[in-house]
Amino acid sequence: MKIGIDKIGFYVPRYFLDMTSLAKERNQDVNKYKVGIGQHKMAVISPSEDIVTMALEAANSILDDTDKAAIDTILFATETAIDYSKAAGNYVHRMLGLQHNIRILELKQACYAATGSLQLAIDYVRMQPDKKVLVLSSDVAWYGFNTPGESTQGAGAIAMLVSANPRLAEVHKGQFTTEELPDFYRPSYQEVPTVDGHLSIRCYNDMLKRVDPNTSYLYTCFHMPFANMAVKANKVFSNPISQDKIDVVKAFTQEVGNIYNGSLFLSLISVLSLAKESLENETIGMFSYGSGAIGEFFSLTIQEGYEHVFDKTKALSHLDSRDEINFKTYVEYMTFYKDKEVTHQYIASDFKAHKDNQFVLEQMVQGHRIYKKVSD
Ligand code: HMG
Repeated sequence: MKIGIDKIGFYVPRYFLDMTSLAKERNQDVNKYKVGIGQHKMAVISPSEDIVTMALEAANSILDDTDKAAIDTILFATETAIDYSKAAGNYVHRMLGLQHNIRILELKQACYAATGSLQLAIDYVRMQPDKKVLVLSSDVAWYGFNTPGESTQGAGAIAMLVSANPRLAEVHKGQFTTEELPDFYRPSYQEVPTVDGHLSIRCYNDMLKRVDPNTSYLYTCFHMPFANMAVKANKVFSNPISQDKIDVVKAFTQEVGNIYNGSLFLSLISVLSLAKESLENETIGMFSYGSGAIGEFFSLTIQEGYEHVFDKTKALSHLDSRDEINFKTYVEYMTFYKDKEVTHQYIASDFKAHKDNQFVLEQMVQGHRIYKKVSD
């Protein structure tokens, strides 16, 4: 029996900072960001959003009432958790109006947890093919002002509905490898990660070499902490894909930046949206990396008729319809983000939510978050 992704959706914040603005303020040659790192824009989370609202937007974009009734597990992957005890998925459950006999778990393994969640969901559905699992990833990649990682920041969420007889992609088993490494970590008392950027790139490539399947694919998607990581990975990969395919694989990341757990799947969405050829029956390679560290290579086979469940026009228009903000607003929003996550004080009336957002964070009361669905 085929098990895999029945539907996939994504959300990235509706505001972005152009890398030209960042380069000017940081006194850098803009080509370092646009050509060297490969980033054109950085998605910036607004004050009315958090990892829950982003996950809600992504999930709401794919789920209908029949899907909602069949979900019996939510796996929420994040490395930017908002609570040490309560799972962010609890808020998602309430706001999506899901039934009560559902299991909810939050999973962490740096940027790898979404892939781990997907594979656990696949095994779960294989045992109980009448069940569906909602796999969510949502993260804010925040390295801090004036740090080397600043140019690779971003934010966003992915939602995947895992089922038997999937309409989008059958997911195959992966090969994985783990080793404790000090390339990137964020102890609970730190607001931003400690990163050895150049070591992390070496660790990423070493892990890729260890799980390289030595198989040729038309497209291989890579975890992309910045767009040109795909170029670096493709160089060490045994069966590199062509330059025009790499351009497709990294196109969405170039416009968004790192979204941590969702980054690999944003690359898949980029391929689904921009591939010139039909992907029906095409098997796509997927390399997932999470610092700390773990690497997994798996593949998925795109199903016949996949375009009925993936609307590429909608995906492209989500990216194209975002609003540019200036450097001052970027500083204001990210200062707000870091203060909110530290002080846990927030009142929505301080900021107006973007007109296209369906879900907003209204208030935080002693750390408890209150959300609102705009159409309510
Ligand atoms: P840096 O050290 O400031 O940049 O930070 P650089 O000096 O290495 O330059 C970057 C590239 O731009 C180089 O190209 C330069 O030559 C080029 P490369 O040698 O790499 O091909 N360059 C220029 N090109 C054109 N015109 C110019 C110019 N100047 C320079 N004028 C770094 C770069 C990525 C290290 C930094 O942004 C960083 O630390 N980022 C965060 C960490 C990261 O993204 N690591 C990636 C692997 S780890 C991972 O993927 C896991 C992660 O997602 C977290 C998780 O798992 O949870 C991060």
